[in-house]
Amino acid sequence: MAVEGLEQARKLMADARKLCVLTGAGISAESGVPTFRGPEGLWRTFRPEELATPEAFARDPRLVWEWYEWRRGVIRGCRPNAGHEALARLALSGGKEVRILTQNVDGLHEEAARAVAGGRDPSPALPLELHGSIFRVRCTRCPYRSTHREPLDTSSTDLLPRCPRCRSLLRPDVVWFGEPLDDEVLQEAYDLARHADLCLVVGTSALVHPAASLPLATVRGGGAILEVNTTETPLTPLAAVSLRGNAAVWLPLLQGGET
Ligand code: OAD
Repeated sequence: MAVEGLEQARKLMADARKLCVLTGAGISAESGVPTFRGPEGLWRTFRPEELATPEAFARDPRLVWEWYEWRRGVIRGCRPNAGHEALARLALSGGKEVRILTQNVDGLHEEAARAVAGGRDPSPALPLELHGSIFRVRCTRCPYRSTHREPLDTSSTDLLPRCPRCRSLLRPDVVWFGEPLDDEVLQEAYDLARHADLCLVVGTSALVHPAASLPLATVRGGGAILEVNTTETPLTPLAAVSLRGNAAVWLPLLQGGET
């Protein structure tokens, strides 16, 4: 994208008083987290839509846990990149109202928020996690939920993690295909998107709803979309500006400074 696109994008950013940022797997690509729909997103021969479902878990919980354990292992070795850090700095700068909404379950926005905040309160840069967290588990039967970062043994069904309260199987605390998002989270996300002057959409294929509909709520509310993605998406024709390329490169440039 030409520098002209960057100048327009910077103006959109500078003029926005309320900014809603929607991120997807592309923002973590530079950190080494595989995207879902890129060629490296495949695990063995499975597509995410075949494994990230309640039906797949009911049929073969060991296989589903094995896939998640692979992703958890990859993500444990990943650190936030310049894109996560730029967003955290923006949210913590206090110049405008900024809220980060993420479809990612990798925890890298939170890690960037804490690193950039240093000793300060990181909460303005903590994301609203639309699809949950890969480092939390929840019970398939009772309301039990907990953080769980340690590696799991997925070599046999008998060894899969069980609820300390009711002994039912635990599952990753993420939203699967065919499952609704948490009501409160979705309501908050729509409120933020609707009232934003600008929705900055970063590294998402914009194919999975309702997350992909959030930028449309901004447009309906009179705001604009600024997109950062390596490729075109269904949102590109609706974007005021679409910057083509790596989020880890573009996001630090959006707040001014050197081109
Ligand atoms: P996808 O894998 O569908 O899309 C990643 C997007 O990031 C694509 O549009 C890429 O072009 C773009 N991209 C890749 N590398 C990039 C980079 N370095 N900089 C900028 N853009 C880059 O991931 P999501 O859109 O996040 O849901 O997928 C949405 C949901 O589908 C996920 O949250 C997950 C998935 O299955 C569930 O698990 C429910």
